[in-house]
Amino acid sequence: MSATADFYLFPTAILKWNKHYNKREMPWKGEKDPYKIWLSEIILQQTRVEQGLDYYNRFVKKFPTVQKLAKAHETTIFKLWEGLGYYSRCKNLITTAKFIATELDGRFPDKYEDIINLKGIGPYTAAAIASFSFNLPHAVVDGNVYRVLSRYFGIDTPIDSNEGKKYFNQLAHSLLDKKNPATYNQAMMDFGAVVCKPKLPNCGDCILKKNCSAFNNNNIGLFPVKSKAISKKNRWFYFVIIAAGNSFYVTKRGAGDIWENLYQFVLIEHHEKMALLNIEQHPEMKKLFNKTPFRITNISEQYKQQLTHQTIYGQFIHVSINKQIAVKNHHPVGLTALKKLPFPKFITNYLKDKNVSLNLI
Ligand code: ADE
Repeated sequence: MSATADFYLFPTAILKWNKHYNKREMPWKGEKDPYKIWLSEIILQQTRVEQGLDYYNRFVKKFPTVQKLAKAHETTIFKLWEGLGYYSRCKNLITTAKFIATELDGRFPDKYEDIINLKGIGPYTAAAIASFSFNLPHAVVDGNVYRVLSRYFGIDTPIDSNEGKKYFNQLAHSLLDKKNPATYNQAMMDFGAVVCKPKLPNCGDCILKKNCSAFNNNNIGLFPVKSKAISKKNRWFYFVIIAAGNSFYVTKRGAGDIWENLYQFVLIEHHEKMALLNIEQHPEMKKLFNKTPFRITNISEQYKQQLTHQTIYGQFIHVSINKQIAVKNHHPVGLTALKKLPFPKFITNYLKDKNVSLNLI
């Protein structure tokens, strides 16, 4: 720990920054309803605030209470979640809403130990709900907090090691203003987002810089330290959009992979990039259409989506057939029904971006 960083000054300085300089406004700030806090925190888990805002507002408008969410049709909820990614969050949201509505009489638990037992809620979210809604003294430890503390105190223990996690948790807890946990926790997150940003932090204007280890040692870029680089897997998805008149074959993705519970067109996954010149000869295509004549009407360019642990590459192959066929696990849906189904962003982006009109194919 740096000699300059001051353990006692830190919380006071953060609260001072919050009081005098924090202009950040977000709809869930100051909110006390644990349902809304929970909703906002689940949405924000892997999503930037700017992207999450509209989703939060739409969810609260459509489902103002946990009971309303619990009663809704799952497909409607997934449709509202469409585009946010990491769909296990949405699945857990539904499970937990149903649990609270049926087992807890619609009342959100008000003790940390009960909150953390809910599906999809880990230590970070439990601390956020406990502190924001019930003013309980639990420190949030998210990416912002790791970054701010590691820089200010010059801590080079990797944040993805067990030792690091334990250390940062203890430090965050001891720094927490136990009388004002809600204000302090929100201030930490805002400070990390507005001043002590991952790239190009506003050190010039920072009121904590005098005692900040990384600033004084001119090594801001070294913090926080991570031990492992994320290993990324490449996958190639070829979506076959089969049109039989105005109907399109879709299926709901099963459990255990990305995009679980979302819908998709017929998928041919390949371990490497395929040249699609003779795609009609591909064994999967032959299996799909058997002896039914089919016509390839368009092949899209390649699209890419970067997820945390995998890079998805994909193309869309439009195929037209004259009469309906049986496609294992898939069913044909008309355009109106199709528009109500939740699809992965990879697919909706393609349909929207390229203004692909399925009507015309
Ligand atoms: N990220 C996650 N939760 C947040 C919150 N309450 N405020 C700002 N950013 C956040």
